Amino acid sequence: MQNPTASPFSSPLAPTWLRPPEGDLNRLDGNVWSSTASRTPDGELLLGGVRASELLERFGSPLYVVDEADMRTRAEGAAAAFAEAFRAIGAEVELHYASKAFLSIDIARWMAEAGLGLDVASGGELEVALAAGIEPARIGLHGNNKSRAEIRRAVEAGLGSIIVDSLQEIERIGEVAAELGRVQPVMIRLNAGIHASTHSYLATSHEDQKFGLTFDVARTAAARIRELDSLELLGLHSHIGSSIYEAAGFGAAAEKLMRFRAELLEGGPVPEVNLGGGFGIAYLPSDDAPTLDALARGIAGEVARVCEETGSDMPRITFEPGRAIAGPAGTTLYTVGTTKDVSVPLEGGGAARRRYVAVDGGMSDNIRPALYGSNYCARLANRVSEAAPQLVRVVGKHCESGDIVVHDDYLPEDVAPDDLLAVPATGAYCWSMASHYNYLDRPAVVAVRDGSARTLVRRITIDDLLAADTAWTPEENS
Ligand code: LLP
Repeated sequence: MQNPTASPFSSPLAPTWLRPPEGDLNRLDGNVWSSTASRTPDGELLLGGVRASELLERFGSPLYVVDEADMRTRAEGAAAAFAEAFRAIGAEVELHYASKAFLSIDIARWMAEAGLGLDVASGGELEVALAAGIEPARIGLHGNNKSRAEIRRAVEAGLGSIIVDSLQEIERIGEVAAELGRVQPVMIRLNAGIHASTHSYLATSHEDQKFGLTFDVARTAAARIRELDSLELLGLHSHIGSSIYEAAGFGAAAEKLMRFRAELLEGGPVPEVNLGGGFGIAYLPSDDAPTLDALARGIAGEVARVCEETGSDMPRITFEPGRAIAGPAGTTLYTVGTTKDVSVPLEGGGAARRRYVAVDGGMSDNIRPALYGSNYCARLANRVSEAAPQLVRVVGKHCESGDIVVHDDYLPEDVAPDDLLAVPATGAYCWSMASHYNYLDRPAVVAVRDGSARTLVRRITIDDLLAADTAWTPEENS
């Protein structure tokens, strides 16, 4: 897929989705940058009022920068959008931030201050939530293979819901709750059979994947939960997948869950329906992500319609957005180390130049391009440049060729070693999926706000990693 003619600077190697390089390559296109991103009069990138160069000098490079005001505002905005749409149909609604997207103690507190509960998917995420002082009743625990220890911790802490994902787990939670003399509210995770339009690794509601129970199995699950004195059937859950840009799948899942709920209501109360997260965001200036207001209104319409058709009472509705809140608030800053031009043979003959710009991080701080083929964009962060556009591939410093940060973008051709690059929309699933591949540091997470910056999570360095190596003897090595 080539797009050779769009601009004098267009590269024949550019994919069709990449906008031709017209206009100003220094511009921070609105929908992919966090809301406080701007440039200083001398051209430097400012995030939360702090210069990119100052951030890297103080906290090291690469660096994850979270725009605190942006993330808080997105959380409040999401809560308001869903509240309004569901108020219109007479339903109560609550948002649980999907903490797998990006979690630290402070981030959990920001979410609570914005009125959101928390979705956690492991004992580790649960510990962070509890350390942040999140009210346990507003935490839901997920996972297709929760350990007994995780279940015990959740029941002891008094979590508002545990979302069950197998019949075996019902017995486990039932036993633990009985031992502790508790009645644990649980929800049944359904596989509603929706083929969400997203990367196959991110779709969670088709037949051949590990999450959820089919409606048939869920009938058995509901009956068993109702049998056990130590469990309470709080409701039904569905999460059709992640990074979804089309509204239809969410509405279809809502309809199926609401119809199934109507059936289960014959056997007793089903007070809550949790419709998960999965709302896509813009990663590229050309991406068009649906607004949460529009999505919320569409889903609310389905819920109201099925309630009316089936004569059911209105359940409490929960959603679990992660990416839509954290993604746009994050920017990763890198330092350029080397550049290299390669000549790529073209199908019809001849060759075109691609410039590789190597930065000081890579697949260890953002695995998404390598794992899902995700596309990002990049901008110069330490200065502006009027140099001609050059198609680049931003790569990291790891020892494999799939170590790509930005597959394709145009940058000014004078980008050189020691320049700083910023990659926007990295707030979700970047730090949280980071690794120490090649013993690289895990970059620090810094929050910026109103001209000041503070560390949320410090850089995890080779010293930390060596300290975990039982054969390391600091004396001998010093
Ligand atoms: N609820 C449940 C049960 C989930 O499993 C997830 C995401 C969410 C909510 C939040 O989805 P969101 O609103 O953030 O799309 N690592 C992948 C994403 C995996 C998502 C896993 N579950 C990525 O980098 O795109």
